[in-house]
This record gives sequence, C-alpha cells and structure tokens, in this order.
Amino acid sequence: MVKEFSGLTDEEAAIISRTGALEMEQVDRMIENVIGTMPVPFGVATNFMINGKDYLIPMAIEEPSVVAAASNAARMTRAAGGFVTSSTEPIMIGQIQLVDVKDPFGAKMTILQHKEEIISMCNEKDPILIKLGGGVRDIEVRVIDTMNGAMVITHLLVNTLDAMGANAVNTMAEAVAPFLEEVTGGRVYLRIISNLAVLRLARAKAVWKKEEIGGEDVVDGIVEAYAFAAADPFRATTHNKGIMNGISAVVLATGNDTRAVEAGAHAYAAYISDHYGPLTSWEKNADGDLVGTIEIPLAVGLIGGATAVHPTAKAAVRILGVKTAKELAEIMASVGLAQNFGALRALATEGIQRGHMSLHARNVAVMAGVPKDMVDEVVKRMVAERKVRMDRAKDILSEIQKGN
Ligand code: MEV
Repeated sequence: MVKEFSGLTDEEAAIISRTGALEMEQVDRMIENVIGTMPVPFGVATNFMINGKDYLIPMAIEEPSVVAAASNAARMTRAAGGFVTSSTEPIMIGQIQLVDVKDPFGAKMTILQHKEEIISMCNEKDPILIKLGGGVRDIEVRVIDTMNGAMVITHLLVNTLDAMGANAVNTMAEAVAPFLEEVTGGRVYLRIISNLAVLRLARAKAVWKKEEIGGEDVVDGIVEAYAFAAADPFRATTHNKGIMNGISAVVLATGNDTRAVEAGAHAYAAYISDHYGPLTSWEKNADGDLVGTIEIPLAVGLIGGATAVHPTAKAAVRILGVKTAKELAEIMASVGLAQNFGALRALATEGIQRGHMSLHARNVAVMAGVPKDMVDEVVKRMVAERKVRMDRAKDILSEIQKGN
C-alpha cells in the first residue's frame, strides 16, 4: 500500500524492506506499521583507556569523522593515563502530578508522613528489582506554581540498577497514585518518569599533555572555546551537540533510548546554572596541560528494551565488555568528553572542514561514477585543489583516463 500510495519503485520498496541483522518478525514486534529497517553505519572507536582498562567503543552514527575524532582524542590522552570516571547510583525520578489540592503545603506534609507506606506500595510492584538491591530509595514532594494554580508534585526516587528504568518507575507511579489522591483529596493526572535524571550522573576526567596536542597554544585555544560556550547559549548548543555526537552514537549502538538521553543532557545543561551552558569544562593545569571534565545525566541500561533483544545491540555490549549500567554510562561520558576535545581542537586550530573533506570527497567521487580503482586518485586531487564537487570529480576522471 505504501508503495502504491507513494509511487515507490520496486527497487525502493525492496531497499526499505531489507531487515539486516533483524528478522521481519522481530522488527514487527518492536514498533507499529513496520515496513522495513533503516541501517546506520556501525563503527568502532579505538584507543580508549578508562580507569586503566582498554575498551573498544561501538558507535552507530551516519556522520563522517566522529569515530575518527573520538579515536584520535582518546589516543592523545593515553600518555596522561586516559579517562578517570565516577558516577552516582542509578536513581531515576518518577513524577506524580496532583491538582485541585486546597492546602498544597499541608498535602505535602501528609504525603511525606506516609513515606514508608508509599515506598512499600511501589516496591511491591517490582520484587525482582528489590531482590537485586534496587527499588524506591526516598520520596520528595514539591509544590509548584503553575498557570492553573498550585500543584503538588511527588517524586519517587528509584534505584533502577542496570535498567534504564522507565518501565519500573512508570508502573510504580501509576500504582501509588490512588493512595496519594486518597490522603490528599486531590486529583492525579500525570504519572511518569522524568528524563531530567539529575540523580543519575556520570562523570569523566582526562588530561591532554600540551606536547601531545600541538602545544600550549592549542590548550589556550580550547580554553577560549570553552569560555565562549560558557558565555553564549548559541555556541553552547553546538558545543553540546558535538558531545552528543559521541554519546548518542554509543547510546544507539547499545540499543538505548537516544531521545531520553538527549532530552536529559540538554535539560541538564540549562538546569545547572542560570542559562543553558556547556556540559564539559576545560582548564589549563599548573603544567600547562589541558584538563577536561564532563558531568552528565545518562539514563542507560543493559537489561530491558532494545538492548536485550536487538542482536546488534547485544553484540555492541559484548564489544564493550561492560557488566553494569553504571560502567556503560561512565564509558559514554568518556566518549562525550573525547568527542568534545576532538571538535574543539579542530575548531581552535585548522577548522573542521579539512578532516571532513576526504570522506566527503570519497562519497562525491563514488556518486560521480568514478570506478573503484580510481577513487583514491580522484579524491587526492579534489582535496588538494579544495574543489570537492561532482563536476570536478568527472573532469579529473577524464583527465586521468587521458593520461594526465
Ligand atoms: C559537528 O557535528 C559538531 C561540531 O559542530 C561540534 C562543535 O562545534 O563543537 C563540530
């Protein structure tokens, strides 16, 4: 029907319906109205040493240069010991919205008085999580001012261990809602996880020795770039986009929820100060070397969701060799820091276009119909001339064929 409606050719329809690593039956169970899959390149970044251990990093992304930049950045920090990481416990927040409460502050106290009952009501919903050591750790209640008057917002703080946690948290929030209505006399509307995971932070730090990265001028350039991002949301957005190039690629490769992580990261970038700012910081230490740090909410898991069923995601987790969601999040933070370093170093020196150029030139040469054995030569000439265009690729090809 889609083919008919949209006038797709047989070839176009066949391309969409390819399923690659997945069986049609599997994809059909994952989402609705499935007609095929959308393949994305899967690369492996190298050189990552994190807490003294070597990792290969699976990355699923369509953008050229990202995997190379991450690998390069990771290589240049090895001399100073690579990445050092830490993280909080994996605590997710579930929100329950109560409206029409006559005495919102009184209701807040009532809810807090029933904390233990609320916690056990929630924990009953997920005995396996409790058995493994997770579950609701605490609750907090906020009275917020809205355009429709005061609302009482209860937060369930849930340790979701190795799961991203949305299922567990949403089930708990729904389960406890009637009790909150009963004790406060208010009405519950929303019962849902918050993607602003401020209690599930991953951190990474790395030092890049000045001689490894092109000297003290480069260190200064990166620190200037950071100051720009810290002062200007227009720049901070692009700065953070570069960080997410790395993080989202690992999130996607491991079958985690890219939208949850992206929403949380950008919201956190606005939450931590009075305006949207960078998720990393860059300083020069006493030796004149560059110190980079990142602290970012990362709601990612190893069990549940696509991570547990998608064969490529499962293989990606095996490549990483991670055993816990915390370890996974800390790796992602390191990749984000490396990616940011790569972008800032390029931007503060020669710009990013030259690095992009040769992969782009390769695509252009192939699109221009250059035969395989001549692609390298055509690419070399286009990059040298800084003329990466289809017409130039065709001209160079005929020059080569004429023997010039
Ligand atoms: C491009 O995908 C990412 C960069 O724009 C990041 C940055 O500007 O820091 C290069």
